[in-house]
Amino acid sequence: MSLTDYRTLGRSGLVVSPLCLGTMTFGPGPFGTDEATSRSIYDAYRGAGGNFVDTADVYSDGASEEMLGKFISQSGSRDEIVLATKFGFNASASPLTATPGKGGNPHAGGAGAKNIHRALEQSLKRLGTDYIDLYWMHLWDGVTPVEEIMQTLGDLVRAGKIRYFGFSDMPAWVAMKAATMASERRVPGPIAMQLEYSLVARLVEEEHVPVAREAGMGVMPWSPLAGGFLSGKYRPEDTSGSGRLSGPNPFGNSKFTKQNWAVLEVLRGIATELDRPMAEVALAWVMAQPSVASTLIGATKVSQIESNIAATEITLSAAQFEKLNAASAPPAGISSSLTATGIRSMLFGGHTVTGWQV
Ligand SMILES: NC(=O)c1ccc[n+]([C@@H]2O[C@H](COP(=O)([O-])OP(=O)(O)OC[C@H]3O[C@@H](n4cnc5c(N)ncnc54)[C@H](OP(=O)(O)O)[C@@H]3O)[C@@H](O)[C@H]2O)c1
Repeated sequence: MSLTDYRTLGRSGLVVSPLCLGTMTFGPGPFGTDEATSRSIYDAYRGAGGNFVDTADVYSDGASEEMLGKFISQSGSRDEIVLATKFGFNASASPLTATPGKGGNPHAGGAGAKNIHRALEQSLKRLGTDYIDLYWMHLWDGVTPVEEIMQTLGDLVRAGKIRYFGFSDMPAWVAMKAATMASERRVPGPIAMQLEYSLVARLVEEEHVPVAREAGMGVMPWSPLAGGFLSGKYRPEDTSGSGRLSGPNPFGNSKFTKQNWAVLEVLRGIATELDRPMAEVALAWVMAQPSVASTLIGATKVSQIESNIAATEITLSAAQFEKLNAASAPPAGISSSLTATGIRSMLFGGHTVTGWQV
């Protein structure tokens, strides 16, 4: 596989690379990359044939969108690029510093129509374009009715300001309701889900992945390396390292658990067997999961992006999948307990019945 092994994103006509360049790190800040490095990362991705880039209005307070817009326009590649950005975080109060109940404009965040229109106009300006290819609801706000979100985003598709939309970080039922409304009403619906998904974050397999398959939505894993954890650069005895997860940081240290260290050791063994970096093997695992259409990759160095792109060349054996799956298995939830083989065979008179989606 390579970045030019294009595929559609979910049940849509949007043609994308199997890896999407995430630009959360573009811009100033302790975990950010300056303009020259960001440009080199972008050029390396484009040079390898990648056509899909992801940003958000909130990344580096808009600097990520500004840089990306500049790189795209200076290379004259707007028509070739699938440009994705997001709305939802509050533009008047940083999500990291806002004091509950104080300051901040409630109309500058969330998924209400007023904020979506405001956010889109700002993003278009920063990106220097007049349309977005894929517009993401960054995270569910818990209050705006799904009907209103669908109406607003559908209107923007009809107005030509966005080509498609998708949902990130939401309950599975929200996506299913939206997709059902879209097919019943014959209106534009979400074509993809952006979710945290990696060898140490598999909870989405319980409800979200089945919804994606049922509704024809492509899954786009974010933090496929768990913020760098799966590269193996942190050790249980020493988590200081020199990466994003070391020291005080906005991403927290929630990945440093006993279970995750155990997953890391299995990953290390397979990477040694294949003589490839652990990060590449972790990416190969997530890219091969059912419903995964395109995986977001992030980097702070050109060498990282090059290595991440090289992950497309790896094919894991059935035995290697089995080892990784067993070590990283998430706890069974209600849905998977209901569909366990033993129960199903009981319902079907002792026969093993396979569903069409397997
Ligand atoms: N929808 C959402 O809520 C959401 C949330 C988060 C991210 N995202 C999107 O997903 C993209 C990717 O997320 P992410 O940055 O968290 O992904 P990630 O792949 O889990 O982590 C990327 C980080 O890992 C380290 N790294 C990357 N490649 C490496 C390699 N080959 N070897 C060693 N270390 C490596 C780098 O950090 P250091 O070198 O600094 O340690 C890099 O910044 C973002 O850019 C953004 O577009 C979306």
